[in-house]
Amino acid sequence: MAKLVSSIFIPLATVFAFFFSSSLAAVETKRFSSNLSPASLGLREEKLSHLHFYFHDILSGPKPTAVRVAEAPVTNTSSTAFGAVVMIDDLLTLGPDPDSKPVGRAQGIYASASQGEAGLLMAMNFAFTEGKYNGSTLSVLGRNKVFDAVREIAIIGGSGAFRFARGYAQAKTHTLDLKTGNAIVEYSAYVFHY
Ligand SMILES: *[C@@H]1O[C@H](CO)[C@@H](O)[C@H](O)[C@H]1NC(C)=O
Ligand SMILES: *[C@@H]1O[C@H](CO)[C@@H](O)[C@H](O)[C@H]1NC(C)=O
Repeated sequence: MAKLVSSIFIPLATVFAFFFSSSLAAVETKRFSSNLSPASLGLREEKLSHLHFYFHDILSGPKPTAVRVAEAPVTNTSSTAFGAVVMIDDLLTLGPDPDSKPVGRAQGIYASASQGEAGLLMAMNFAFTEGKYNGSTLSVLGRNKVFDAVREIAIIGGSGAFRFARGYAQAKTHTLDLKTGNAIVEYSAYVFHY
C-alpha cells in the first residue's frame, strides 16, 4: 500500500515542481521592470547645451507653414482668438533671415488658451537637421504670452542626442507683421542632456 501511494505521489510531486519552476521562469523572462545602471545605456556625464536659432511662423502667402485647423464658435468674437488651434511646420534657421542656414523645423500645435490676454499653449517638437543634432528632437510644452518681451517655455524631453533632455527655451519676437500675422521669433534654449 505505502509503495503504491509513494509511486503515485512522487511523480505528481515531480510534475508539480516542474510546472511551478517553469511558470517562475516564464515570469522571469516577461519581467515588467528592472533596475539599470546609466552606463548600460551608454550614459556618461550630463551636459548643458545652449541652442540659438530663429523660428519662422508664416501664415500668409501660397505656402503658409502655420495653418489654423480648428476654432470655437466664440473664437471670432474673442479678443484673444480663444479656441483657435494652429498646426505648424515652421522653419528654424541660424539667423533671422529666412534664407540663412536651416537648422531644423518646429512641428506641432499652438492654440489660444487664454481668454484675458494673448496666451498660447505651445506643444511642439524641434526637429533638428544640423550637425551632430541632425535627427534629434526636443519636445517643448508651455505657455507663450506672445506680447511679452521674453517668454519662457519648458523643454520636457527629447530624442537622439537629446534623450533625457530637460530645460527651458526663451522666445523673443524678432519681427511681427500685424497685417499678415507672420512672425520671426528668436529662440534661445538651455538643455540638460547626455
Ligand atoms: C470666423 O471668421 C472666418 C474669417 O473671417 C470665417 O472663415 C470662419 O468661418 C468664421 N468662423 C466662425 C465659427 O464663425
Ligand atoms: C541629416 O540626416 C539626413 C538623414 O541621414 C541626411 O539625408 C541629411 O543630409 C542630413 N543633413 C545634414 C544637414 O547633415
